[in-house]
Amino acid sequence: MTGGIKTPGVERVHDPVALPAEEDLDRSLRPKRLEDFIGQDRVKEQLAVFIEAARARGEALDHVLLAGPPGLGKTSLAQIVANELGVEFVPTAGPALERKGDVASYLTALEPRSVFFVDEIHRLPRALEETFYPAMEDRRLPITVGQGAGARVVTLDLPEFTLIGATTRAGLLTTPLRDRFGVTHRLELYSPAELGRIVRRSAGILEVEIDDRGAETIAARARGTPRVANRLLRRVRDYAEVRGAGHIDAAVAREALDLLEVDAAGLDRLDRDILRAICAKFGGGPVGLSTLAVAVGEEADTIEDVYEPYLLQQGFLMRTPRGRVATEAAFGHLGLEAPRESSQRLF
Ligand SMILES: Nc1ncnc2c1ncn2[C@@H]1O[C@H](COP(=O)(O)OP(=O)(O)O)[C@@H](O)[C@H]1O
Ligand SMILES: [Mg+2]
Repeated sequence: MTGGIKTPGVERVHDPVALPAEEDLDRSLRPKRLEDFIGQDRVKEQLAVFIEAARARGEALDHVLLAGPPGLGKTSLAQIVANELGVEFVPTAGPALERKGDVASYLTALEPRSVFFVDEIHRLPRALEETFYPAMEDRRLPITVGQGAGARVVTLDLPEFTLIGATTRAGLLTTPLRDRFGVTHRLELYSPAELGRIVRRSAGILEVEIDDRGAETIAARARGTPRVANRLLRRVRDYAEVRGAGHIDAAVAREALDLLEVDAAGLDRLDRDILRAICAKFGGGPVGLSTLAVAVGEEADTIEDVYEPYLLQQGFLMRTPRGRVATEAAFGHLGLEAPRESSQRLF
């Protein structure tokens, strides 16, 4: 996902999608083993069992679908699975696979039991999905060779492999594709305590001095997302270096985050723009997603994938069949008074 229309000059410190310049940071901070991966305990426990079983049998792991908002660790987990299995990790992404030949050249070149990672698998062209069915089920890949009257179908045998698909929108996958994954995990937003551990781990790797209260302050404003926590840590470090001895405590973290316009509830400017539009322009809602998107100058997909999960989790927003509705908490957070009818409409 590209993150939509960016307002020039306004940097989005809270966008959980990796910025291009950040890929190095992501890589250096990415946990390599299951034991380094913090939180998502249920997912980890289950994967550990499946990995152990596959390793004991000397077989490929069943195909795995990882769903959830950006920045929660899908790519990291896929790499960890390959590391734990001791097999090759071969990454690509849905939009990069255009023709059947692209899929064929990846799949036929895999070493046995490899992890083939397809990021943004919901963006796989529809026509290519069917290519995956026999490949996932029976390790067969029927391809057409030749043209016109001389064309014939040959079936290639594929090595054993594990397809790991990652998606921010599991709902966009067709049922036949979804059904071919033996294992599906949905990653949830992280708790502040888990994010605090992630911040301290990252600070250790980056050799940043931070105390517990400093880590908690960053964690509380990281919208449940490890990638955001890591990004805020780096920004706060810059601030700490410029302003003082480089040590991050609660006061330094708070000052830096205020400067970045990340508020005490962890909302950034666009979060507040979304809520303010619903509350002030649309009387608290309900308002349709596309109308809302136009009102704040952002793509509907980005609002839905990136912004809403946290606003919903924090109880600022509700999805109803007729559109998005701001809660009383949203009015309160913005210092606005909730209209009486709006609360009656809600409950
Ligand atoms: N559970 C976790 N423990 C520690 N760090 C994490 C965890 N999940 C994500 N991260 C950090 O967040 C960054 C983004 O994670 P990533 O796997 O790229 O997310 P996604 O693929 O879901 O967008 C990683 O570089 C890693 O540093
Ligand atoms: Mg990813």
